[in-house]
Amino acid sequence: MTNERKKIAVITGASSGFGRLFALELEKNLDLEEIWLVARREDKLNELASMLERVKGIPIAADLSTEEGLNIISEKAKKEKPFIKVLINNAGFGRSEEFCEGEEKYYSDMIDVNVKAPVILTRKLLKYMSESSMIANIASSAAFAPLPYFSVYAATKCFILNFSYALGEELKERDISVTTVCPGPAQTEFFKTKEKKVNHLKIEDPVKIVEKAVRDMKKRKRISIYGSQTNLLRFVSSLMPRSLLAKIAGHIKFPK
Ligand SMILES: NC(=O)c1ccc[n+]([C@@H]2O[C@H](COP(=O)([O-])OP(=O)(O)OC[C@H]3O[C@@H](n4cnc5c(N)ncnc54)[C@H](OP(=O)(O)O)[C@@H]3O)[C@@H](O)[C@H]2O)c1
Repeated sequence: MTNERKKIAVITGASSGFGRLFALELEKNLDLEEIWLVARREDKLNELASMLERVKGIPIAADLSTEEGLNIISEKAKKEKPFIKVLINNAGFGRSEEFCEGEEKYYSDMIDVNVKAPVILTRKLLKYMSESSMIANIASSAAFAPLPYFSVYAATKCFILNFSYALGEELKERDISVTTVCPGPAQTEFFKTKEKKVNHLKIEDPVKIVEKAVRDMKKRKRISIYGSQTNLLRFVSSLMPRSLLAKIAGHIKFPK
C-alpha cells in the first residue's frame, strides 16, 4: 500500500539551523521523493529547496503558532496522501530572561510552537505513516532540568521529552519509531555566538548533532544525544532532586 504513494519527509523549522541541516542530511541518507520544508521565511525555504539535488524540496510557508499554519500542512497531506517516512518536529524558539520580563504573548507563542505544534502536527500526520516511519522530536539538554531564567523554554522541552517517550511506546506496535533529539547549545540562529565556549558551556557544532541524530533515527533509538558535555548533563541531572537542580542551574549564565 505504501509503494504506490510518494515517500516523503516533513521537516518543521527548515529555514535555518538544525532544520536546514536535517534536510541536507536526509537527502544523503534516505531514499525519499520529496521533503516538505516548513517555516515562515519562504525565501530561505526556496533557497534550501534549490540546493537539494536528489530529492524534490517543497517549500511550505506556515506559521506554526497558528491553527491555519498547522492546517496548511495537514490539508496538503489530505490532498496528496503521501507515505510519510519521516516527520521531524524541529521548529522552536526561546531565550534566556527573567520570567517577569517576558511578554505574555511571547510565552504563549513559544508554547504553541514548541509544544502544541509538534503534538497536533503528529496527530494530524500519523495517518499517513506506517511500518518503518520515523518521528524525531527536537527537545534540548534544557529538558533535563528546571532552568531558572529559561523557565518556560526548558519546560516546553521537558514536555517534548516525556511526550516522545510515551508516544514511542504507544507506536511500537505499528513499528513507528520516535527519537527525541536533545542537543546542547549549538551555533544556529538560536545562539548567534561565534564563540566556542560561553560561560563554561561548550557550543557544539550543529552539523555533528544532526549527523548523529539521523544515525540514531535509523537505528530507531529513543534518544539522541551528541557530545560528552550533554551526556554528562543528562547523567548528573538524573541523580539529583529537582530542587537542587534548579538551585544549581540558577547560577548558569546562558548565551543569548
Ligand atoms: N541551537 C541550540 O543551541 C539548540 C539547543 C537545543 C535545542 N534547540 C532546538 O532546536 C530547534 C531548532 O532550533 P535552531 O537551533 O536550529 O534555531 P534556529 O536556527 O533559530 O531555527 C528555528 C527554526 O524554527 C522556525 N520557527 C520559529 N518559529 C516558527 C513559527 N512560528 N512557525 C514556523 N516555524 C517557526 C524558524 O523558521 P522561521 O523563522 O522562518 O519561521 C527556524 O527555521 C528548536 O526547537 C530549538 O529549541 C536548539
